[in-house]
Amino acid sequence: MSAEPLEIYLEEQDVVRSLRQDVRVGLTAEPKWLPPKWFYDARGSELFEAITRLPEYYPTHAERAVLAEHAGDIAELTGAKTLIELGSGSSEKTRLLLDAFTRRGGLGTFVPLDVSVSALRQSTEEIAAEYPRLRVRGIVGDFTRQLDRLPTGGRRLVVFLGGTIGNLMPIERTEFLTAMRAALEAGDWLLIGTDLVKDPAVIVPAYDDAAGVTADFNRNVLRVINRELGADFDPEAFAHVAVWDPEHEWIEMRLRAERPMRVHVLDLDVEFAAGEELRTEISAKFRPEGIAAELTAAGFDPQAFWTDPDGLFGVTLARAD
Ligand code: SAH
Ligand code: AVI
Repeated sequence: MSAEPLEIYLEEQDVVRSLRQDVRVGLTAEPKWLPPKWFYDARGSELFEAITRLPEYYPTHAERAVLAEHAGDIAELTGAKTLIELGSGSSEKTRLLLDAFTRRGGLGTFVPLDVSVSALRQSTEEIAAEYPRLRVRGIVGDFTRQLDRLPTGGRRLVVFLGGTIGNLMPIERTEFLTAMRAALEAGDWLLIGTDLVKDPAVIVPAYDDAAGVTADFNRNVLRVINRELGADFDPEAFAHVAVWDPEHEWIEMRLRAERPMRVHVLDLDVEFAAGEELRTEISAKFRPEGIAAELTAAGFDPQAFWTDPDGLFGVTLARAD
């Protein structure tokens, strides 16, 4: 079976309007910042996939180990009819779940949702070919704004992998979990992957790899703004920075201006002093008790928490109360 045509909940004009707004707010703020969702054009999505193959980037390897071990449990415990994946990217690890559901039987529909059209196009075509009995409905959408448009009916399992929840600011995370609960019925399920707090000597290299792939990914946000808004950033004039913030227990990616610059974007002339840093992403790391508390506060009942053998990454299965 081929995948159904992508359902587009984000039209091109909405995307550009929202990028304009984020750029105006973020580049006139002190300190300057940009939201991480703008990394992911076709090139950004490919760069992220390249990151997942780096030896230093343990989250993907560790989460895959958890899913390989527990996919069968997840299929049995949830008995889901519909599997919805938020921020699905390539859905590479999700195949472990699809395989387990295929063995168990009963799963009818797979619904990956992502802002990246290129990633969705490729993943939906491949998955539809690999799982011919599955209905595959890709959704181009924003998981911070459009959870109310998820498909309803049947028992649903929503999966949010990779630790992407850690890219939301704490207040956005609370809003996201509350909206997620509101979009589900009691008895539906949420499976959520979270990177865990550990020695920064392990975390920092994962965000500052020797081959420079993460640096290229980080600079991609400037290329996206140049292309979409006709800005004149010189991406190579910005250095990639990854710093561990022990107070917030998150890693921050930044772009540091290597010389003074004036960048023209929209109707703004944005000044960068030499050494000034623009925050492009936070990636929060979690403690098991914190994850459970946030899920409970949002109206979920955490039923299982699994980690990989090295305890690097956690996967929580929670039921909507
Ligand atoms: N789940 C995959 C991919 C993680 S990368 C994995 O575990 O490897 C993060 C993904 O989330 C990217 O594909 C990106 O395009 C998507 N994304 C980021 N912000 C988003 C948003 N606000 N709404 C929908 N998708 C988003
Ligand atoms: C998608 N997200 C969970 C990644 C992370 O680890 O926070 C994005 C990323 N940023 C740098 N490398 C990977």
